[in-house]
Amino acid sequence: MKLVFTTHNRHKLDEVRQILSGKIELVSLDEINCFDDIPETASTLEGNALLKARYVKEKYGYDCFADDTGLEVEALDNAPGVYSARYAGDAQDAEANMNRLLDNMQGKENRNARFRTVIALILDNNEYLFEGIINGTIITGKRGTAGFGYDPVFIPDRYTKTFAELGDDIKNSISHRSQAVEKLAAFLQDKKID
Ligand code: IMP
Repeated sequence: MKLVFTTHNRHKLDEVRQILSGKIELVSLDEINCFDDIPETASTLEGNALLKARYVKEKYGYDCFADDTGLEVEALDNAPGVYSARYAGDAQDAEANMNRLLDNMQGKENRNARFRTVIALILDNNEYLFEGIINGTIITGKRGTAGFGYDPVFIPDRYTKTFAELGDDIKNSISHRSQAVEKLAAFLQDKKID
């Protein structure tokens, strides 16, 4: 079966394709000639994922899914959360975002944080939500070069290295996004849509 994944991000598309490992044929926004910058104006991850999926379903008519992810830090009342991409401003600069996070975490004893991904699926005009969470801690400096976003400052529980040190294979086997995608894949399989 074919499903549209509402992303322009090649890195994400490849990551999710790898997790679904050919079970479902994923089509990107570019492949349906959608080059729109879909608004993400909701105040929750669930809201943004639904906004994106509904946009594609309404404008292009395809069954589709959309994801939204945030880094939720306990000592910061779950910030940056839904605002993770623009924590340090509209430039969406990962270095600046991490610097702001590290500044705001100075002197905090509680370093607990989690990445949370929400996927919204629209299938046959029904909407479904799937969630993936990975718990960990925020360290005091940046370590590693793999991955993207906040990977250099996040160590997942039961590991001693950051996501950026662990690399894509290990990250993809445990990550928030992979857990949410696995739930999506299991759901689609149950529906015998694969
Ligand atoms: P998005 O919803 O996947 O676009 O994620 C929003 C923001 O959260 C990104 O711009 C990153 O700053 C951060 N983020 C999402 N996923 C990850 C990840 O796997 N590692 C590190 N940062 C991430």
